[in-house]
Amino acid sequence: MLNIVLFIVFPYVSVILAVVVGSYRYFFDRFTYSSQSSQFLENRKLFYGSVPWHYGVILVLTAHVLALLFPAEWGILIGVPIRLYILEVTGYILAAIAILGMTMLIVRRLTAIRARVVTSRMDWVLLAVLLAQVVLGLWVALFYRWGADWYLHTAVPWILSLVTLNPQIQYVTVLPVVVQLHLLGGFLVIALFPFTRLVHLMTFPITYLWRPYQVVVWNRRARKP
Ligand code: HEM
Repeated sequence: MLNIVLFIVFPYVSVILAVVVGSYRYFFDRFTYSSQSSQFLENRKLFYGSVPWHYGVILVLTAHVLALLFPAEWGILIGVPIRLYILEVTGYILAAIAILGMTMLIVRRLTAIRARVVTSRMDWVLLAVLLAQVVLGLWVALFYRWGADWYLHTAVPWILSLVTLNPQIQYVTVLPVVVQLHLLGGFLVIALFPFTRLVHLMTFPITYLWRPYQVVVWNRRARKP
């Protein structure tokens, strides 16, 4: 029963929440997207945390999605041992970079008092969940080797069975607890998406390419001579 709740009900509820609440915010509540910026308040640590975090996590998640969408091609890719080794090691490095970046971001919000005051409770929840998720991911990759391979025969058929509305949880209920926590953590991130500053993903800043850049002008009167 618990497995049904965790591996069927929870994933569906998180995706439904993400789609329904995310769409609602996108169409009716757009101006609440912009969470309070802290960049003017502290910029240097933000840069050294944000850049590694985003590079690390986006590349790792791209690999997750590619293997899910193209399992046959992914199987061919890792079919040659050297390519599998390179992928695994690249995954470790990217995960470590993401963990380092996220740690910097958390330390920044804890120590830079001005950034801390604009950090909401939900921001803290999100930062903690994301850090836990990447730490679990690296843990899984290090201690349950060759995830690039067994992912294809466990998580992928499970997720595809959910997508086709024919849930098959036997693929994942036999996995070690740490691996299961990472899988559930993935859906927790999806569930949190519309309630946290993760909604910024929906406004992927593509319009930055053509819109005029922002100019910030101090709204202060010039001092009289
Ligand atoms: C339900 C969704 C998810 C599934 C099924 C999943 C599955 C996996 C698996 C099987 C591995 C081991 C890969 C290996 O050993 O090479 C892994 C690694 C990892 N995952 Fe996930 N994951 C999910 C969501 C996420 C999310 C949302 C994040 C980040 C926010 C994340 C971050 C990582 C990281 C950093 C690693 C270690 C790097 C690597 O070796 O690829 N995962 N994941």
